[in-house]
Amino acid sequence: MGFEKKILCIGAGYVGGTTMAVIAHKCPQYKVTAVDVDAARIGRWNSHELPIYEPDLDEIVKATRGRNLFFSTEIEEEIREADIVFVSVSTPTKMFGVGAGMAADLQYWEKTARQIRECSASDKIIVEKSTFPVKTALAMERILTSTEAGVRFDVLSNPEFLAEGTAVKDLESPDRVLIGSRPTPEGLKARDALVEIYANWIPRDRIVTSNIWSSELSKLVANAFLAQRVSSINAITGLCEETEADTAEVARAVGMDHRIGNKFLNASIGFGGSCFKKDILSLVYLCRNYNLHQEADYWEAVVKLNEYQKERFVLKMLHAMFNTLTGKRICLFGFAFKANTGDTRESPALFVARRLLEEKAELAVTDPKALANARADLAGIDGRISYVQDPYEAAADCDAIALITEWDIYRELDYEKIYRSMVKPAFIFDGRNILNHRRLFEIGFNVFPIGKPPLTHFQD
Ligand code: UDX
Repeated sequence: MGFEKKILCIGAGYVGGTTMAVIAHKCPQYKVTAVDVDAARIGRWNSHELPIYEPDLDEIVKATRGRNLFFSTEIEEEIREADIVFVSVSTPTKMFGVGAGMAADLQYWEKTARQIRECSASDKIIVEKSTFPVKTALAMERILTSTEAGVRFDVLSNPEFLAEGTAVKDLESPDRVLIGSRPTPEGLKARDALVEIYANWIPRDRIVTSNIWSSELSKLVANAFLAQRVSSINAITGLCEETEADTAEVARAVGMDHRIGNKFLNASIGFGGSCFKKDILSLVYLCRNYNLHQEADYWEAVVKLNEYQKERFVLKMLHAMFNTLTGKRICLFGFAFKANTGDTRESPALFVARRLLEEKAELAVTDPKALANARADLAGIDGRISYVQDPYEAAADCDAIALITEWDIYRELDYEKIYRSMVKPAFIFDGRNILNHRRLFEIGFNVFPIGKPPLTHFQD
């Protein structure tokens, strides 16, 4: 049976792999392939153990792989065959030269653009899926059209808004799909072809079209707004800890105003993940590039507050534990940057672990899904660290628990048993406010929530 369309994604990472799996699942009439230069990663996509953990992804891949979903390292051959090419290569923060630490590193996508140009013998629609700085599509068009091969490329921007841990759900029923195109007849035709693909399972009124630059910018702005909400509520936590106020109560009261809304108002140890910091820094860099320094400072403050929030957490631990952590054993409950993912990129856990090791504490790290990544992240850092799957075992003989990730299992543990196994006085620092603080205090713990006064057994 021939396929109606051949869809290719260059880059089989989080976004590329999951998006292709969902398209293949929803559209059996298309042949969908994800390619990557990383043969080991492709090997894992073709194995029983996928390279990422994401709820429902295993089932979807199992149902489609070999039928209309394929993972391959044959990049050039697959480009030749494809009608539509998604580009989902990584765009990490550049760590060298101009824009180091701020701008997006575009070397991978540029190589990809050249490769597409070299391998194509027929017209193609190229879809920017990775988060790019504004006007990347223009550069991509310039590279693609810089030969006389007579092949036509139409470049679209189609940013991905999925969140880790809910990626499949977000792809199956997104708030919106955004497609940016050139306003030319060819650009609009290419846009309509992509709309057709999504319209297989997404209502038309949720498929939003715009000009290509608005689309690119919207992705950066959406992430900047989300991160800004977290930093805004976190900017209240210090004040609440010093007074009789409770951040959760403030967030509830504030969030009930429908103009504000109640999402993304959970005070925390700080946001992590591969997108927020990178995208805001990219926005800051763009602003500076256009001499918009006030705007750049404004957005940069969102990241600075987040760095401060992580440091504040460590200082709180240090001060509470009598200003010395040397030789003390501290258990980290969770290493992932949020629950329901094994991803540890930019996780506050890494910052906290480094700082505690600097203070010469010993660490026992536990996490239901992220232990392998934690081990890799902390490899080469001096200090005594053990990695323990079982949280009870991890907490035993520790002076303190620092809860970093809001995994449900941590809410349901037997804290009396844990308390009995720990060194006294025993401390809990709840970086996510998910535990029953009053109950922990009654068990005997000294409890330090985020954005609420501590509950301690010490007389001032
Ligand atoms: C984010 C965006 O949500 C998504 O649309 C975009 O495509 C990629 O970036 P993700 O990084 O997967 O997704 O996670 P998200 O759920 O947004 O959380 C980001 C961080 O903020 C996490 O560390 C999370 O724990 C933290 N967070 C979130 C809070 O601290 N408080 C909140 O109220 C919400």
